[in-house]
Amino acid sequence: MKDLFCLYSLSLLTQASAQIDYSQYVNPFIGAEGPISGYAFGGGDIFVGGAVPFGVAKVGLDTYEDNITLSTLNGGYTPKGKATAISIMHESGTGGFPNMASYPDAANNIGTDTGRPGYFKTQLENGITVELSAARHSGIMQYSYPAGEKHVVVDVSHYLPSQGGGYSIQYYIGGEIHLQNHGRYTGYGTYGGGWNEGASMTAILRNASEYAGPFNGRVGALFTWSNSSSSTIRSRVGISFISSDKACNSKNEEIHTHDLNATVSAAVQEWNQDVFSKVRVSTDPSANRMNLVLLYSFLYFMHLMPSDRTGENPLWESRMIRSLIDTWRFEGFMPDGRSGNYNGLVQGSSNADNVLADAYVKGLKGAINWTAGYEEMKKDAEVQAYNTYSYDYPTASVKEGRGALYDWIPLGYVSADRSTRAVSRTVEYALNDFALSQVAQGEAPEDIQKYLNRSAGWQHIWGHNVTSMDFTKFLAPRFADGSFNSTGYNPALCGGCEWSDISYEATPLEHSFVVPHDTETLIQLMGGATAFESRLDYIFQPNTSQQNLGANGAGIDTIMNIGNKPDFGIPYLYNYLNKQFKSVEGNRQSANRYFHDALYGVPGSRDAGALNSWLVWQMLDVYGVVNQDVYLIESPWFEDLNMTINGDLTLRIMATSDGNSTSSAGNGFGREGYYVQSVKINGKQWGRNWFVHGDIMVEGGTIEFVLGDEAKVWESGEVPPSPGHVVL
Ligand SMILES: *[C@@H]1O[C@H](CO)[C@@H](O)[C@H](O)[C@H]1NC(C)=O
Ligand SMILES: *[C@@H]1O[C@H](CO)[C@@H](O)[C@H](O)[C@H]1NC(C)=O
Ligand SMILES: *[C@@H]1O[C@H](CO)[C@@H](O)[C@H](O)[C@H]1NC(C)=O
Ligand SMILES: *[C@@H]1O[C@H](CO)[C@@H](O)[C@H](O)[C@H]1NC(C)=O
Ligand SMILES: *[C@@H]1O[C@H](CO)[C@@H](O)[C@H](O)[C@H]1NC(C)=O
Ligand SMILES: *[C@@H]1O[C@H](CO)[C@@H](O)[C@H](O)[C@H]1NC(C)=O
Ligand SMILES: *[C@@H]1O[C@H](CO)[C@@H](O)[C@H](O)[C@H]1NC(C)=O
Ligand SMILES: *[C@@H]1O[C@H](CO)[C@@H](O)[C@H](O)[C@H]1NC(C)=O
Ligand SMILES: *[C@@H]1O[C@H](CO)[C@@H](O)[C@H](O)[C@H]1NC(C)=O
Ligand SMILES: *[C@@H]1O[C@H](CO)[C@@H](O)[C@H](O)[C@H]1NC(C)=O
Ligand SMILES: *[C@@H]1O[C@H](CO)[C@@H](O)[C@H](O)[C@H]1NC(C)=O
Repeated sequence: MKDLFCLYSLSLLTQASAQIDYSQYVNPFIGAEGPISGYAFGGGDIFVGGAVPFGVAKVGLDTYEDNITLSTLNGGYTPKGKATAISIMHESGTGGFPNMASYPDAANNIGTDTGRPGYFKTQLENGITVELSAARHSGIMQYSYPAGEKHVVVDVSHYLPSQGGGYSIQYYIGGEIHLQNHGRYTGYGTYGGGWNEGASMTAILRNASEYAGPFNGRVGALFTWSNSSSSTIRSRVGISFISSDKACNSKNEEIHTHDLNATVSAAVQEWNQDVFSKVRVSTDPSANRMNLVLLYSFLYFMHLMPSDRTGENPLWESRMIRSLIDTWRFEGFMPDGRSGNYNGLVQGSSNADNVLADAYVKGLKGAINWTAGYEEMKKDAEVQAYNTYSYDYPTASVKEGRGALYDWIPLGYVSADRSTRAVSRTVEYALNDFALSQVAQGEAPEDIQKYLNRSAGWQHIWGHNVTSMDFTKFLAPRFADGSFNSTGYNPALCGGCEWSDISYEATPLEHSFVVPHDTETLIQLMGGATAFESRLDYIFQPNTSQQNLGANGAGIDTIMNIGNKPDFGIPYLYNYLNKQFKSVEGNRQSANRYFHDALYGVPGSRDAGALNSWLVWQMLDVYGVVNQDVYLIESPWFEDLNMTINGDLTLRIMATSDGNSTSSAGNGFGREGYYVQSVKINGKQWGRNWFVHGDIMVEGGTIEFVLGDEAKVWESGEVPPSPGHVVL
């Protein structure tokens, strides 16, 4: 056994020595701050601390804010917040209310912070320096004390509070701690609530806002060391959802020594090997450093969530996509915002359907039971989930499934009098039903037409007479009796785009662009290609937004709002007009204005990495269309990039300047010279502004761009497909 282990280590080392340390380009603080310096409020809601890719343990500092109005503690970290604890579990990039954080260790006020993948360091005002790192299910903390007695409180009852109160607060239910010899301890804690209204006690806490403290007395232990002891205290902690023994084993197996650096090095190696080295660009001194920082930092943030609970699910065993299906198998529905071993919160529709359809059309078929996958998608489409009487929406379940099937099935749309979020949910349900029609191609051909028909449901709420800003025809709220509510309707407004409004997270005007499965009909309904184009042009103009986006708005004054997911695909719609240069323009505009190597470096909540992935795809040069095997071609940010795909194959993306540019190709960020002049795929001149998965994503190959200053229509021929084309 021992020999085998040594051999394994040696082979890893050999590989590592040949590897570039891309982790040096990661700034793990991008998004830690919002518009107000020092506050997380309006920022990316990110976790800051030590973690490995998809690690269960995310070890970091928890804080609170004196000013409750500005308190945002979702990832635990606030640059100038007051430290309450170091804790082992966090989420990263979720809005709403905090979820999870437990097994804390120390407390006090903070000074300056530094970090990189797998490492975080802070200085507390009382003179204590805290350094920490993490392995997959365990963490290591190192406290350096000034002279005197040294104390560490292990507070089992710690959790991230919602300072403003509210129905989605977390709470501590109970716990134990057992002290053993040599400074060892074991124990457990139980926690509930949080943004997804998770776990068993939610129903009891109907009036959670009235509820001030934990159910049980707080539980913890105080460890004290005398003046003469070493000034450095080190602590290793393992966690498990299964048992204390498993937690101890993880700690012992993952963190062999008390040398913090060993854990940091192991984490860095894992990040480089499993994540960063999959996308290789030049790191020569001449490379654009800002682009390197954005690329590798955003790859880092994309791999903090979800947590890979393989072997750590107390309810059953499975992996990633299969775990979506297994959640249905064991709990009745696939998850939408699962957290704390509990489904919820469904804001729009059953979007795991899209994840499955994407995997299906891209050929990830072997390892997944598609009979079960399709069975579950049908359940999402046909069976209304049991109502859990959420505060957000007491009318129907927001825990799982689609809450407004009682409208969608008989009417073909979500009605504005019987349901909230009628406009945005109509659009989302349509897309989900298109996802079903895609998987039905192989699994249930008899269902294809049924779900294609249903995927056109958005046309039922098309307000042919609605006029706004010199444009006519928008999505509009429609009552169950078939009439439209035209009283004071303005598609550029959404109230607060909240649970109770007609449109969630974006205005009806923005949602009117979100029909990726049938852009062809959308263009027709907006009045044809020319009218469609001028409407697109308009939403990128400054000062056009009428909706106040609040603190999360990042000062965005265009209707096009890159800070929120419904708009991610909108700039790419010009590809459907064979005017790809305008897609490039719109994307660079959003990217250059709102994404930076800075604490306030992303426009609002990162949404668990979604915002980061938008930029990374753009930097690569492509955009994958949801539920389809289609990729839209954009303009790469790097002169030469090798990406590992499909196991160990390579996709190489190259860009050269046409020689006419005032700046060199590949340095397009914030400069001229990024317009596509021509494209070759696998050496062949490519006329279309899109390709399909099988063209290059299966076997690998090359995409070669010539870039330049000229905004040019370089493409011809077929526009990207609309495989859900149905006209009602
Ligand atoms: C808290 O922040 C809000 C918003 O910036 C401000 O209006 C308010 O005065 C602050 N309250 C305190 C006590 O500082
Ligand atoms: C320990 O150190 C503190 C601070 O330096 C001092 O106040 C205290 O008297 C010391 N205690 C003992 C037992 O030496
Ligand atoms: C919630 O609290 C309000 C105000 O105290 C009270 O009127 C109501 O009955 C409570 N509801 C439940 C379900 O306990
Ligand atoms: C840990 O690494 C840091 C930075 O590389 C170095 O300064 C420090 O001396 C190392 N500590 C130990 C104990 O090896
Ligand atoms: C990409 O791979 C090719 C072929 O192996 C190699 O020549 C080139 O240097 C690589 N480029 C980068 C940036 O790694
Ligand atoms: C696939 O799932 C279906 C539906 O749950 C089940 O009947 C079948 O046994 C599964 N097949 C395999 C190979 O596990
Ligand atoms: C789909 O819609 C068309 C047109 O309304 C209709 O003729 C057809 O029967 C529908 N198919 C199914 C399977 O619902
Ligand atoms: C739209 O306007 C036309 C012509 O004015 C009218 O006939 C039609 O009923 C209107 N449709 C709706 C849905 O308001
Ligand atoms: C119709 O829309 C207006 C505002 O657009 C809203 O105030 C009103 O409540 C709606 N009517 C109904 C019956 O929902
Ligand atoms: C946008 O509106 C602001 C405030 O009204 C104004 O100061 C600014 O000049 C406008 N910008 C443009 C580009 O119109
Ligand atoms: C550079 O621009 C000129 C004039 O617009 C054009 O004729 C020439 O083809 C361009 N060169 C390249 C390499 O595209």
